[in-house]
Amino acid sequence: MTISDSVQDPIYPVAERLTGKHKANVQSMAEYQSMWESSVNNTNEFFGKLGRELLSWSKPFETVQHGSFYEGDVAWFLEGELNACYNCVDRHALATPNNIAIIHEGDEPENVRRITYRELLQDVCRLANVLKSMDVRKGDNIAIYMPMVPEAVVAMLACARVGAVHSVVFAGFSSDSLRDRVIDCGARVVLTADEGRRGGKNIATKRIVDEAIKGTTTVEHVLVYRRTGSEVPWTKNRDLWWHDEMAKARPYCPVTAMSSEDPLFLLYTSGSTGTPKGVVHTTAGYLLGAASTVKYIFDYQPGDIHACMADIGWITGHTYIVYGPLALGATTVLFESTPTYPDPSRFWKMVQKHKVTQFYTAPTAIRALRRLGDKWLADSDLSSLRVIGSVGEPINPEAWDWYNTQVGKGKCAVVDTYWQTETGSIIISPLPGATKTKPGSATFPFFGIKAVILDPQTGAELKGNDVTGVLAISQPWPSMARTVYNNHHRYLDTYLNPYKGFYFTGDGASRDKNGYIWIRGRVDDVINVSGHRLSTAEIESALIHHESVAEAAVVGGQDDLTGQCIHAFATLKPNVDVSEGLERELSLQVRKVIGPFATPKRIYVVSDLPKTRSGKIMRRILRKIVNGEHDQLGDISTLADPS
Ligand code: PRX
Repeated sequence: MTISDSVQDPIYPVAERLTGKHKANVQSMAEYQSMWESSVNNTNEFFGKLGRELLSWSKPFETVQHGSFYEGDVAWFLEGELNACYNCVDRHALATPNNIAIIHEGDEPENVRRITYRELLQDVCRLANVLKSMDVRKGDNIAIYMPMVPEAVVAMLACARVGAVHSVVFAGFSSDSLRDRVIDCGARVVLTADEGRRGGKNIATKRIVDEAIKGTTTVEHVLVYRRTGSEVPWTKNRDLWWHDEMAKARPYCPVTAMSSEDPLFLLYTSGSTGTPKGVVHTTAGYLLGAASTVKYIFDYQPGDIHACMADIGWITGHTYIVYGPLALGATTVLFESTPTYPDPSRFWKMVQKHKVTQFYTAPTAIRALRRLGDKWLADSDLSSLRVIGSVGEPINPEAWDWYNTQVGKGKCAVVDTYWQTETGSIIISPLPGATKTKPGSATFPFFGIKAVILDPQTGAELKGNDVTGVLAISQPWPSMARTVYNNHHRYLDTYLNPYKGFYFTGDGASRDKNGYIWIRGRVDDVINVSGHRLSTAEIESALIHHESVAEAAVVGGQDDLTGQCIHAFATLKPNVDVSEGLERELSLQVRKVIGPFATPKRIYVVSDLPKTRSGKIMRRILRKIVNGEHDQLGDISTLADPS
């Protein structure tokens, strides 16, 4: 890695709140560079030490790193045994029982719950015993479909405690999507709530679960947390109330010792083809990635209040609401509402109220709030903030500047963090006390990450600065996904076979003349809407299931607010006429099959789609059309009908 100091782009020095009296966890670029070198060159020593320092083991590991990208058999911390729940709850409940583990900022701002580590331990133990009473055992898969309430965190940790593998499904997914995920992992128990609350509205969570598991064969019990108290349909013997079962359970439950490589959770994510993949993360490596990135990338210090605004249904929520902060004994904020409820000052009032030190959100939210005007920040004291982060999509320099000046007041570190569901934790990001930042660049790789840029055609590594290609990683790191559930060859084909010897991210990237990395977005058929990852193939398949549709093609368009947006093209079956309201119906079809967040921005019912002579839809051309680049259609000579 060559980092040049003669910088021409707009560049920001290390921020005021990270220097002077404050002792950041990494305090200079030289310190970062020397740690990074040792993390990739003396990997066993570096991560052996970090693993012993940040995690508690019931049996120590002997081998640090095992396996390779060639074989697809990566494993870490062999022989070691530990329990993720013990690391996130017990050890802090024993040392500092009255520290706050979770601050729940409910949908209504005045609705705040504070849960200490002692209380968290009791709740997690009770639920772990409830799971055991349902005969849940080590290795069983449990689906969690819950709103943003502390019980959702308790659910994840209780699974970890008994060695069950949780599969959290984002509660914005439709019943069809939930059903696919429950079936794929053969969940025996589903944990849910009567209803969710968001932006002042109720969401029919339990009804969606009922619909989803109709006709499935594996689900024995549905445990229902009472969030709103509304009347919900009930299936006797199968459905159980959370509060009834918890009341019967003992508030201590021993932890189940897990091997480092036992799965901790599955999380489904969209790829360029086929059905969603159940990405598998294992216990020790994942937890170390989560804890170490909170320590170094968010510069965690004891007493900090860490607020990640993601939903626990996505990897960001898993790693930066639950496992990362709790592994370090931090206070984590769980936010149930939306950035604009009851008004657009919501985030900033919350920062003031809880004296938040780390704030983490997505560029879409930043852009939306920027549009609504600076007056919404005027009355809030944001002086507690030290590190403000962005995740999920490229952040444009205008949004970065606004975040830096209006939210950070020019005094906070802005960390543009790049990572993926599969990477488990952040892999490219500035370090608050060390890195000078350029708006829009995720800057440099984290410890253990050997980020390389490859020529997409030849796979050759493009060394040196001022290069553009596809982003890959050249050696294993602790928190990388180990497999796709029940589909290891798909794991190999997606990540490890495209460029032998490398993990392929699916993103394009450049390294600029100063060695800074810039993420250029996906190079496959994945589109990123407001930081939500969607597969064009899945949306097309949802449309084709509509009785009128013959063929569908979906492409990503550019959008000032959401980054990308969905444009869907459909041709109709013979003898079907374009009826009034058809576009709306098709839009509803996508919402029903995937979920409201996948709603296309535009649907075009067309008489034909551009195809090659062999019949392949040329999405490249549609992409140019929706992005107003009609004059740059490129080579269309292979089209069956160029007109
Ligand atoms: O394209 C990259 C984009 O989000 C993808 C991963 O999506 P997902 O697995 O849902 O995880 C999102 C949250 C970790 C990546 O392949 N992405 C994520 N972070 C950034 C980003 N693109 C640019 N800059 C980022 N900071």
